[in-house]
Amino acid sequence: MTLTEKNPQAVWNHPQWWIDRVRKDHPDHWQAILQANNSRAPLILRVNERKTTQAQYLQALAAINIEASPVGEQGVILANAQPVPSLPGFAEGHFSVQDAAAQLAAPLLLNGLGAAGDNGARLKILDACAAPGGKTAHLLELADCDVTALDIDARRCERIAQNLERLDLQAHIVVADAGQPAGWWDGQLYDGILLDAPCTASGIVRRHPDVRWLRRPTDIAQLAGIQAHLLKTLWLLLKPGGRLLYCTCSVFRAEGDMQIQTFVAHHTDALLIPSPGHLLPQIGGEATVFPDNLMREHDGFYYATLEKRSL
Ligand SMILES: C[S@@+](CC[C@H](N)C(=O)[O-])C[C@H]1O[C@@H](n2cnc3c(N)ncnc32)[C@H](O)[C@@H]1O
Repeated sequence: MTLTEKNPQAVWNHPQWWIDRVRKDHPDHWQAILQANNSRAPLILRVNERKTTQAQYLQALAAINIEASPVGEQGVILANAQPVPSLPGFAEGHFSVQDAAAQLAAPLLLNGLGAAGDNGARLKILDACAAPGGKTAHLLELADCDVTALDIDARRCERIAQNLERLDLQAHIVVADAGQPAGWWDGQLYDGILLDAPCTASGIVRRHPDVRWLRRPTDIAQLAGIQAHLLKTLWLLLKPGGRLLYCTCSVFRAEGDMQIQTFVAHHTDALLIPSPGHLLPQIGGEATVFPDNLMREHDGFYYATLEKRSL
């Protein structure tokens, strides 16, 4: 028996329970996922389309000899990490730092909503777990909509305000528990809800290497319980015909497709729209391309869009 077979923990630098879980959830890709977790994540920016374009920003970087390439619609991958505040246009709000997988959230929610809500009014959107505001800002960059950015953590809500101010964007920021709407909801149904739920963060190990050692196996079920409660509660706040985008930065199926399958089975008014599902963490152009992945460089994520049917 080789050392590799004897001690997978040492080979993969992950706890054994984590290796077992990834292997069970993704039998064809578990080694590639663990390998991606041990790689260095590149710095990825999201261009603020209210201020500049992806092409213009790539030119601005090229003009000062910073090598970069496009990813997705608004993303820019830097070949080498740089101090973010020193990049062109930082203070002016030309970009934010955001992984390419996270950049899918705002377009996925907005694409199905059309340009306006009832009677041509501005779309009313709830970003239910919003801090530090990465996806809130992207929504506001892409659409003229009224966004309520809610988070349970007051300190993290201050970061939403700071980020939006730098980007010249406005949202209604609320410190509250999304699972207890009686304390904060005005009674008006939303056209769209983004639920970027608290999770194990098992999809972003390459950016937070310690997460695998800090988590306990019991965290998965505990967080899945919180996610289920938030889903069930927020579903009631959505208009018929509206859409809820559920996402987590996790590769564990309990926080992704199992969660959504259970929800759809118990909610006859919920229609699962074709969605990316589990995006597995992916490294660079030369990496193995997983069949369910959209791009060649991003963190692990899960996305499901649910439409509320009128019954
Ligand atoms: C994955 S992070 C959100 C990241 C954010 N959407 C972004 O793109 O910048 C999850 C957030 O959920 C918040 N949270 C956890 N439980 C919550 C609850 N019951 N109600 C509201 N927010 C909650 C956490 O404070 C944390 O900021």
